[in-house]
Amino acid sequence: MIGLIKGPSTHKGYSEDNSLMDSFGRRASKLRISVTDRCNFRCDFCMPLNPVWLPHSEILTYEEITRITKILVNLGIRKVRLSGGEPLVRKDLEILVNMLNKIYEIESISMTTNGALLEEKARVLKDNGLKSVTISLHSLKPELYDSITRTKNMFYKVLRGIEEAKRVGLKVKINCVVTRNCNDNEVLDFAKLAYEGNINVRFIEYMPFDGNKLWDIEKVVSGDEILERIKSHYPLVKLPREHGSTAENYAFKDGSKGGIGIISSITKPFCKDCDRIRLKADGKIVPCLFSNDEYDLKPLLRGGASDEEIAQFIKESFWKKSEGVEAMIKKNLVLKHIRSMYTIGG
Ligand code: 5AD
Ligand code: SF4
Repeated sequence: MIGLIKGPSTHKGYSEDNSLMDSFGRRASKLRISVTDRCNFRCDFCMPLNPVWLPHSEILTYEEITRITKILVNLGIRKVRLSGGEPLVRKDLEILVNMLNKIYEIESISMTTNGALLEEKARVLKDNGLKSVTISLHSLKPELYDSITRTKNMFYKVLRGIEEAKRVGLKVKINCVVTRNCNDNEVLDFAKLAYEGNINVRFIEYMPFDGNKLWDIEKVVSGDEILERIKSHYPLVKLPREHGSTAENYAFKDGSKGGIGIISSITKPFCKDCDRIRLKADGKIVPCLFSNDEYDLKPLLRGGASDEEIAQFIKESFWKKSEGVEAMIKKNLVLKHIRSMYTIGG
């Protein structure tokens, strides 16, 4: 695949129209907001056993998040996803959902969660404007689930959370990170869950974002391998890929409203039409998940800057978005631990 073409070097270093564009011509329309780095789980591919949390004073308030989101909406953002850490450990998250839901241009607000608190929270989140939830579920065996997430007896609680989310009318998807010799023998069980439960299950390749530095290419089960295993039992139809989506989506050929998503972030990334920008809980803008580059908005935000000054800072930061993991692989750069997922939320 040919790399992205850089914009002219004489360029000012930011999009000159009212949009977020990077130097490769990609525009952002989706925002991921990490509302906290804290989590009630310790998934081994994500979180160190004894994480050092950001101090509360460093975390953006709901008012600050809403202000930044409004500025970003003026620059073209239309979809927002809340993540963590675990977003639902942040107190009264529905208040933020409500505040964001009042921004007219936003087409959808969704959330990625481990599901532990969903049973209690699904209704109030839905009532305040949440449209969909993606719940992480990495094993269907309660014991293995506990061992991956390093929790106790949470499996059935998460299942109840999923049921409740469906019951209150949230759109529900499942995320499953597949790792070799751990849960890869459950791929077909998850496909069965998708088929029989009429639910969307997305399989994610293991990325070098673990807080324990356990990542190794040998532990990555490729999207192609996952797909082959599923196809051997369930005939699938490939759906057209949505612009900017990291997933390749499939429907079952017959008899189920469920679906399969394959997120091949390592073996088949889609950096070319990436349309995301990320905001960390402490106010840092992260243009690309696979780069360490971050741009701190907080000094401006808490230093009395105007919306125009903040918008300009974000435009300049986004312009510097790196080419992405696709280019790193092409240049044979060694993929290693880049950041811990809990600090950014995927
Ligand atoms: N590789 C791939 N996915 C990960 N997640 C957490 N850590 C990793 C990793 N190292 C998942 C979470 C959640 C989503 C945000 O990313 O389980 O589903
Ligand atoms: Fe928490 Fe999600 Fe990381 Fe698991 S993957 S430790 S649930 S932030």
